[in-house]
Amino acid sequence: MRRFPLVLVGMGVIAVAQGPSSPPSPISPDLIKFITPADNPGSAAKARLGDDLFDDKRLSADNTVACNTCHEPRGGFTARLETAKGIRDQSGKRNSPTIINAAFMQSQFWDGRAATLEDQAKLPILNPIEMGMKSPEEVVAKLRAIPEYVTKFNDVFGRPPNYDDMARAIAAFERTVVSTTAPIDRFLRGETNALTDAQRRGWTVFNGKGRCNSCHAFNPTFPFFTDNKFHNIGVAAHKQDFTSLAIRAERAGSSQEEIDRLALESDLSELGRFLVTKNRSDIGAFKTPGLREIAITSPYMHDGSEATLWDVMDHYNKGGEPNPFLDGGIQRLGLNEDEINDLVELMAAFTSDRFAQLGGMEMQRQRTFMRGPRQTRDNDAALGRKGHFGDAVPTHDKKDPAAIGGRPIAQSQ
Ligand code: HEC
Ligand code: HEC
Repeated sequence: MRRFPLVLVGMGVIAVAQGPSSPPSPISPDLIKFITPADNPGSAAKARLGDDLFDDKRLSADNTVACNTCHEPRGGFTARLETAKGIRDQSGKRNSPTIINAAFMQSQFWDGRAATLEDQAKLPILNPIEMGMKSPEEVVAKLRAIPEYVTKFNDVFGRPPNYDDMARAIAAFERTVVSTTAPIDRFLRGETNALTDAQRRGWTVFNGKGRCNSCHAFNPTFPFFTDNKFHNIGVAAHKQDFTSLAIRAERAGSSQEEIDRLALESDLSELGRFLVTKNRSDIGAFKTPGLREIAITSPYMHDGSEATLWDVMDHYNKGGEPNPFLDGGIQRLGLNEDEINDLVELMAAFTSDRFAQLGGMEMQRQRTFMRGPRQTRDNDAALGRKGHFGDAVPTHDKKDPAAIGGRPIAQSQ
């Protein structure tokens, strides 16, 4: 492995390049076995082939774009751009998520339009604004003309390159790109001092007043801070009119490739999960992203519209952008400045040791940046002082919910 410590999976071995005294990985070997498909077991040679393919610009129409152009390993496997740029500098509509821990997601893409990593890998190569190849046959012909690939595919799969095996190798590589231990893991194992005071207070807000854990769910067997579900948290709505978009989408195509193009190239992108399911309750809903390594993957959200973690906090604090499809879990939070800062500091503790240095630099950059104008901030909405779509009736007092709209429970009995 050239630049990334390899975790060998699917072979019952977890060989993370950590020192002998390093704590165990936060991710259990059983979980890795569980998520590896039976028809694509991992091996070191397969993952290496997948890594070569992931880095190879020859998989694009004009030999300028590889998977790693938009998922740059040293930058946390993201592009660090609001929305990704493919061949001929064409910009798509969505932010490139990290592929770290993507293996553990129940579906791929912000709208879940691909079921598996194998499925996912076949799409960007053929998307006209990403890698722009015309057909799987064209890709296979290109691979078969490169002698190293013929040899490597033969070694790994026992046959010449084909499109499915290419996707299998890339997926096998991606299953090795997983988080190592972060301060939050040490804290949860009982090392209280692994988190600062601010981070510990942030953890309380995360699981309490902030209600973050209702979607960014964490548990020791699935430590990724995601419920793997789709929610409209009011990021998409502010730009367009959902109803007219939804009517257009109902007439649009529904094959996986057509949805891929609509999601990346058209205004219908903002409909999110609705493009895939056509259920009204999925309008503007996007997949809950995991939060491990979140400090190093700015800008945030499906459209890259939020530059820093402070902007994300401002967004949640005011209860998102009001819209008729807003998730019930999103309400104004009324967090004060300290609680916002503590939550952001907490998220810095989700950065694994491998990316600690980059994480530190990025937090420093975000701290400087957030002292400028806070674009998503709306204190009046956050504190319930403003007629907000969700505030048609008084928002209940969190300390004594029964005091508004009825008699306290004790008196009514
Ligand atoms: C032009 C930039 C670009 C290129 C090239 C690219 N991607 Fe992506 N990738 C994206 C964007 C943007 C998304 C999110 C799109 C969406 O959700 O609609 C994405 C999503 C993904 C996801 C889903 C992650 C998740 O959490 O849902 C995976 C996995 C992935 N890409 C792997 C790859 C692989 C493998 C390749 C090469 C075969 C590749 N990408 C090429 C931009 C790119
Ligand atoms: C109702 C479910 C829900 C709740 C509650 C929630 N989130 Fe999210 N979170 C999401 C979804 C869905 C997205 C992606 C939305 C999008 O891009 O449109 C997201 C995105 C994020 C992102 C950006 C991730 C990225 O990779 O771009 C961060 C950071 C985040 N949430 C942190 C938090 C914190 C901290 C809280 C608590 C204050 C919280 N979330 C509460 C569902 C939720």
